[in-house]
Amino acid sequence: MKRFIVGISGASGPVIGIRLVEELLKAGAGVHLVISSQALEIIQYETGLAIKGDSQAETQRLVREHFSTGSEKRLFYYDEKCMEAPIASGSFRTDGMFVAPCSMKTLSAIANGYASNLLERAADVTIKEGGKLILSPRETPFSPIHLENMLKLARIGVTIAPPVAAFYHKPEDLQEMVDFFVGKLLDSADIRHSIFRRWKEQAYDQGHIKGHRDLL
Ligand SMILES: Cc1cc2nc3c(=O)[nH]c(=O)nc-3n(C[C@H](O)[C@H](O)[C@H](O)COP(=O)(O)O)c2cc1C
Repeated sequence: MKRFIVGISGASGPVIGIRLVEELLKAGAGVHLVISSQALEIIQYETGLAIKGDSQAETQRLVREHFSTGSEKRLFYYDEKCMEAPIASGSFRTDGMFVAPCSMKTLSAIANGYASNLLERAADVTIKEGGKLILSPRETPFSPIHLENMLKLARIGVTIAPPVAAFYHKPEDLQEMVDFFVGKLLDSADIRHSIFRRWKEQAYDQGHIKGHRDLL
């Protein structure tokens, strides 16, 4: 069974991270999830989803309840202050980590090895262990500082996959747009999915495209 870490930090669009967790669980993967305290606030504000409890234990219960689709045994949730979690150590092996969405604050922490909470520590560990780290930074416009942080990480092999919209798959609503972002994140980790239509895929599958000429 594949095992991934998912970090949801306090940028706009935590629905992307939530949808990603659902897809990873659906794909049969184990998920170690950490949501920053600021992200818990934004989840409440943007989605109305009530997963922030009055205590860490209550939040843990609510999160696990939300994702309960028969996959409870594969989902582990940690508070950002829980530095004793397995994912804080390089001895705990994973198949990679996603941070979606990734705030500019968390991006900066990761780019500078500043591990002040569990999410940042897990990303730091993923880098030091040579693991796959996929970030979905959300801000606009990006400042030169944000861009430098992204470039620094990209140069050491971190995948920078911001939630940038595409229109060739003809999204009909926001959900399809979110699925596109999540699908691109899954692609980055080589996880098979069918949550968005690929460019010309249907035509290929139906045998309408055999060569260059058919594309014109
Ligand atoms: C509603 C709301 C939306 C925000 N959206 C973003 C965003 O898209 N990108 C960003 O970098 N910061 C955003 N912020 C600011 C971050 O939440 C803030 O910098 C916070 O310290 C990030 O902490 P974290 O990365 O540990 O979760 C937002 C804040 C609020 C309240």
